[in-house]
This record gives sequence, structure tokens and C-alpha cells, in this order.
Amino acid sequence: MELERISITVERDDLRRFDELLQRRQLGNRSEALRDLIRRRLIDEEIELGSGPAVASLTLVYDHEQRELARQLVSSGHAHHAQVLSVLHMHLDERLCLEVQILQGEPHDLKHYADRLIGLRGVKHGQLVLSSASLWEGDGTTGHHGSH
Ligand code: NI
Repeated sequence: MELERISITVERDDLRRFDELLQRRQLGNRSEALRDLIRRRLIDEEIELGSGPAVASLTLVYDHEQRELARQLVSSGHAHHAQVLSVLHMHLDERLCLEVQILQGEPHDLKHYADRLIGLRGVKHGQLVLSSASLWEGDGTTGHHGSH
């Protein structure tokens, strides 16, 4: 692996908070952390532009008492049954639910599906994490990213 030294300019306050974060979360030094961020961004781009099936997890936190929401989530899941491989549901408290959906399909379709659900009224938080098995075949980086 050939390394290149770069110099970057960032706001002082952001840098101070970044250093604190690295220390608190034991993420290594600035160089390691930035390499990781750059790599993650490149992977995201590769997955989004690439064709062929991706796998993904979609995490949703929502208020199940929000009118129509539970019904909308179920009917979306049925409409996309070929892509929704598995759903883990946990009742967080009297109102809030945590749901993790395991998805498989074209990246564009998965993003579209996720964006629609995350945008529904009553969904407090949502995040789609895309990955693709084909990205990792034989490049030796699986172990590194497996640790996150
Ligand atoms: Ni629930």
C-alpha cells in the first residue's frame, strides 16, 4: 500500500471535537480515522453506482401509535416482500418501536424503499446501511471493516 502525505484545513473547533471523539471512542490517530472516513465514503459511492444486488440493513425507530404508520409499514413490507428478507422488531417502550430490516436488491431500489419509510410521519430516526458481498471478494479488507 502506497501512502501519500496530505495537508488539510479544518475549523479549529471541529478538530478539537474530532480529537476528543477519537480519544473517547479509541478510534486511533487522525490519519487512521481520516483514512477510514475516506474509504467508507468511497465504498458508499461504489455501492450506489454499482449494479447487481446489494444487501442492506434498515434501522427505524418509530411511534407505533402514529395514525396509519403501522399499517403503512406493513403494506410497504408486503409490496416489497422480494427485497425484505427479515425483520427484527423490538418494543422500546409504550409507544416507540425499533425495527431492523434486512434487505437485498438493487441499491437504487433499496434506497428508494428506505427513503420512503424514513420519510413517513412518526418515524423518529432511520438509517440505511448498504453493503455488497461482491465488493469484498478477495481484496483482503473484509476483516478491517468487519470490526466496525
Ligand atoms: Ni413495537
